[in-house]
Amino acid sequence: MRPEVVATIAALRARTRAAGSVAFVPTMGALHEGHLTLAREAARRGELAVMSIFVNPLQFGPNEDFSRYPRPLEADLDKAGEAGTHLVFAPTPDEMYPPGDQTRVAVPALARGLCGPHRPGHFDGVATVVCKLLNAVGPCVAIFGRKDYQQLKVIERMVRDLAIPAEIVGMPIVREPDGLAMSSRNAYLSPPERERALSLSRGLASARAIFAAGERDAAALRAAAHSPVAAAADSIDYVTVADPESLEELASAVGDRALVAIAARIGRTRLIDNVVLPGLGAAT
Ligand code: PAJ
Repeated sequence: MRPEVVATIAALRARTRAAGSVAFVPTMGALHEGHLTLAREAARRGELAVMSIFVNPLQFGPNEDFSRYPRPLEADLDKAGEAGTHLVFAPTPDEMYPPGDQTRVAVPALARGLCGPHRPGHFDGVATVVCKLLNAVGPCVAIFGRKDYQQLKVIERMVRDLAIPAEIVGMPIVREPDGLAMSSRNAYLSPPERERALSLSRGLASARAIFAAGERDAAALRAAAHSPVAAAADSIDYVTVADPESLEELASAVGDRALVAIAARIGRTRLIDNVVLPGLGAAT
């Protein structure tokens, strides 16, 4: 079934206020199986399953892909409906950022490492829009992917710090059969670039393999993840071994759990991927 579409916060609130339980999936559209897994989880958890589709200008840097980000709204509505979404909130930039808008939400320590230095202002843009979306939806279960692991941690912290009435759920990374993490940005990759993009998941797989064999030295884990990416990528923003909660880089020995996260550029496309070790097979 095609979902109902609303474009204003007032219309969204009228629908969510009348619902029993609400489950919410924020997205920027160009939906793939990763998003749809979140949507199916929302349909399972909420009497009303809501998805937002909004390419948020505030989280894109001046040299990033805001204007060319794919916006296939009609196809997205079909896919969202098939995944059980009842209601899509698709606002205009003016609805989200009315004239005179100036309030921003920042989660500074969690935004400092990993993607933070490479995308200045990005996590403030994410925190601000997600805060506003959660305010617009009202009390809900909000479902996010661990693909954007740092984003998930920023949002968890923001929701606790600001007492936002939302339960945050993190879902495993959905991958292509060959291991590539699904992403709307994969559509930018040419066939040879897509082959090189596999180096990210391969790097993470080798870090996981040596961790499973007992390796606990952060530098060794980092080197295992780094080497396939160094051979295939055009540039590397980071390959980091970090504490999965504080996101602080681990300098020496890692404990029972460690985040290994990669950001690299393949051609013009910036890709990210991660695993939280020990990991539970391919879909973690
Ligand atoms: P977007 O990139 O569209 O992603 C929407 C949600 O889908 C995020 O929670 C993301 O982690 C999840 N997702 C993407 N690819 C995934 C995959 N392969 N497996 C599992 N989950 C995946 O993230 C954003 O939009 C924006 O920053 C947003 C939160 C909507 C704020 O603008």
